[in-house]
Amino acid sequence: MSLMQHSASISSSSSAFLGESNIFSRTSKVSLPSNKSGLCKCVSSPPTEKTAYNTKVARNANMAKLQAGYLFPEIARRREAHILKYPDAQVISLGIGDTTEPIPKVITSAMTKRSHALSTLEGYSGYGAEQGDKQLRAAIASTFYGDLGIEEGDIFVSDGAKSDISRLQILFGSNLTMAVQDPSYPAYVDSSVIMGQTGQFQKDVEKYCNIEYMRCTWENGFFPDLSTVSRTDVIFFCSPNNPTGASATREQLMKLVQFAKDNGSIIVYDSAYAMYISDDSPRSIFEIPGAKEVAIETSSLSKFAGFTGVRLGWTVVPKELHFSDGFPVAKDFNRIVCTCFNGASNIAQAGGLACLSPEGLKAMHKVIGFYKENTEIIVDTFNSLGFSVYGGKNAPYVWVHFPGRSSWDVFSEILEKTHLVTTPGSGFGPGGEGFIRVSAFGHRGNVLEASKRFKQLYK
Ligand SMILES: Cc1ncc(COP(=O)(O)O)c(C=O)c1O
Repeated sequence: MSLMQHSASISSSSSAFLGESNIFSRTSKVSLPSNKSGLCKCVSSPPTEKTAYNTKVARNANMAKLQAGYLFPEIARRREAHILKYPDAQVISLGIGDTTEPIPKVITSAMTKRSHALSTLEGYSGYGAEQGDKQLRAAIASTFYGDLGIEEGDIFVSDGAKSDISRLQILFGSNLTMAVQDPSYPAYVDSSVIMGQTGQFQKDVEKYCNIEYMRCTWENGFFPDLSTVSRTDVIFFCSPNNPTGASATREQLMKLVQFAKDNGSIIVYDSAYAMYISDDSPRSIFEIPGAKEVAIETSSLSKFAGFTGVRLGWTVVPKELHFSDGFPVAKDFNRIVCTCFNGASNIAQAGGLACLSPEGLKAMHKVIGFYKENTEIIVDTFNSLGFSVYGGKNAPYVWVHFPGRSSWDVFSEILEKTHLVTTPGSGFGPGGEGFIRVSAFGHRGNVLEASKRFKQLYK
C-alpha cells in the first residue's frame, strides 16, 4: 500500500486568507464579450487598439483558434469589474481553486535551510539534473508508487503539472488526435489547440474539431461510455476530476486501460488531487495491471502541500511505454525535458523532499483534512437547499447542478447578489453547462460566510 492511501485526518487550523490577492496578479487584459443572458460565447476578439507599428511576423494560426480568455483569467476579470462596481463589498473567492492555508513549518524550514546553504561555498549549487534531484525522485517513487513497480528513473520532477501537460503536448507533436473528459481542466484542450492538433472552434456545439469530448455527467456517473468514444492517440483523464470532483473506481479504470490497450492509445492520467481520495478509488493509474504499457501520470504538490506558488510537480513515464515503432516514450520525454526545462528550483525540491518525510506527510494530510472539512460545509449547504450536489468526497471541489440554467448566468447571479466568486461549469467544456464549481480552498471564516450567503440567496 502506498503512503497516499492512508486516509487524511480531519483537523482544523486557521490562517490568514491568502487567496484574494493572487487572483489579481493572474488577471489578463483579454476581454470576452458576453451576450444579454450572460452566457459567455467565447469568441476570439480582434485587436481593438490602433497600433503604432506592426512587425512582419504572422501570428501563429493556432493561437488565433483559441477562445479569447483562459477560464480563470476571465473569472478574475469579472471579479475585478465587480469590485469596481461594489468597492465596499467583501468579495469571497471560491472560484479559481488556489490554496489558501500556510505551508506547514516542517516543509518551509527545509526550504529556508536550503536557501541559506546557497549563500555558502559548501552549500551552493547551480543547475541540477533536468530530471530532478535523485533523492527526491526516489522518494516520489517510494511514497506514491511504492509497490507498483515505478522506479526513480521513471520520475521526471518538474515545476508543476500544468507545465508538464504542455511538455507532453510538445512530445506528442501536432499530428495526433486526443480525447478529453467533458468537462475537464482547460489546459488539456488549450495546449492541444496551441500545438495544432485541432481544427477550429465550433460555436454551435462549443467544441474544437478533432478533439474527442468524452461526456462525463451525472447521468453516466462521470465516467464516459467508452463504447461511444472514437479511438484517439492520446486520452487525457483526470481523477479525482477537476471540476466535477468525481474519482474513477478501480473497475472503471480497468475499463479505461483496456480501452487504451485495444486502441493502442496513450493515457495521460492527471492525479493532481489523488491525496484527497478518502474511499478505495485508485490513487494512481499504475494501480491498474498493465497500465505501465499505456499510461503516463502527471501529478503535483500544488494541492497536496500548498505549493501552488512554490511550484513542484512530477511526471511518471514508465520504461514499459513505447511508441508504435518500439521507441521508449521516456527517452523522447527526457529529450524534451532537457531541451525545454533546466530542472525544478533546488529550494522547491528541498521542500518537496521535506513533504515526503514522515512529518511532512502527516502535515500535508492535516491541511488536506482541513480543506475536506470545508468541502463538507459546502456540500451540506447545497444539500440543505435541495440542490443536486456531486463531488466533494474525494476532491476539494463541489459540483452543483442548476438544471436548465446557463452556468455563466448562475455565476453572475451569485456574484451580483452575494459577492461570492464561483466557477461556471461550462468553462470546463460543454458538458459542464448547467453546473457551477465551488472550491473548498478558503479560510474557514470565509467558507462559513459563503455558506450563509448561499443560504440567504437560495432559501
Ligand atoms: C487537474 C489539474 N491538473 C493540473 C493542475 C496544475 O497543477 P500545477 O500547479 O502543478 O501546475 C491543476 C491546477 O489547478 C489541476 O486542477
